[in-house]
Amino acid sequence: MLVNATEMLNKARDGHYAVGHFNINNLEWTKAILQTAQEMNSPVILGVSEGAAKYMTGFKTVAAMVQSMIESMNITVPVALHLDHGSYEGAKACIEAGFSSIMFDGSHYDIEENLAKTTELTQLAHSKGISIEAEVGSIGGEEDGVMGAGEIADPAECKKIADLGIDFLAAGIGNIHGKYPANWKGLDFEALERIHEATGGIPLVLHGGTGIPTEMIQKAISLGVAKINVNTECQLAFAEATRKYVEAGKDLEGKGFDPRKLLAPGTEAIKATVREKIELFGSAGKA
Ligand code: 13P
Repeated sequence: MLVNATEMLNKARDGHYAVGHFNINNLEWTKAILQTAQEMNSPVILGVSEGAAKYMTGFKTVAAMVQSMIESMNITVPVALHLDHGSYEGAKACIEAGFSSIMFDGSHYDIEENLAKTTELTQLAHSKGISIEAEVGSIGGEEDGVMGAGEIADPAECKKIADLGIDFLAAGIGNIHGKYPANWKGLDFEALERIHEATGGIPLVLHGGTGIPTEMIQKAISLGVAKINVNTECQLAFAEATRKYVEAGKDLEGKGFDPRKLLAPGTEAIKATVREKIELFGSAGKA
């Protein structure tokens, strides 16, 4: 069932668990995530970066693929199709293309411009029943080719943007995309607590979900985080499983090259990663 992400995230916040946002890159990735969410009776968010959408030939293709797969796979758990780190133009295009949720990442604009653009996109998204995530305080690491330093969001700015009526908020608290460096200081829970208090209980989003220790994930959920984004861990699992299969020469065995067989170990590895995250975030059985 394709839905916006508002209700599932409000429920997650109230029930003290988080819904996983898993980025998709192709049909296999999408199928693996949908199957696992259904098996575990968990709501799920499919995240699509602008780069991944371009790779898949555009937002319309992605929306049509996801809508058809939900139908043909008999997926009954709530699924949100969500633009990840959208630009102003990208967000508008997704609203037209049939996405059920968007993120507008205006964190690289000054706060006034971020507020103005977020206001406009919130009105537009809500007029079509689409949920919207906004961002304050950039998240470190690479976001679709752009390197961010990873700043801690200002609670007053978070309040301003939450008050615009957005549905959930990504606030930088020392989290970064990709692998965490050995000298990473960890999440800033004092900042998270201040942001949680200032924003009146709006569901908060934790980007950079790969490699955060279990206790930190649990603490973040207890402080209002209701959506956790995971991308790198699925990519690593996929790459590692595919590498092993190819190195064993298995892609050339039998009756000849079969692309479906080649992609199967990576797909299974994604399923295992998604299963593990759904358990950790506590969303199993919450559909
Ligand atoms: P990772 O790549 O660190 O898993 O983060 C994913 C993410 O935050 C996507 O927005």
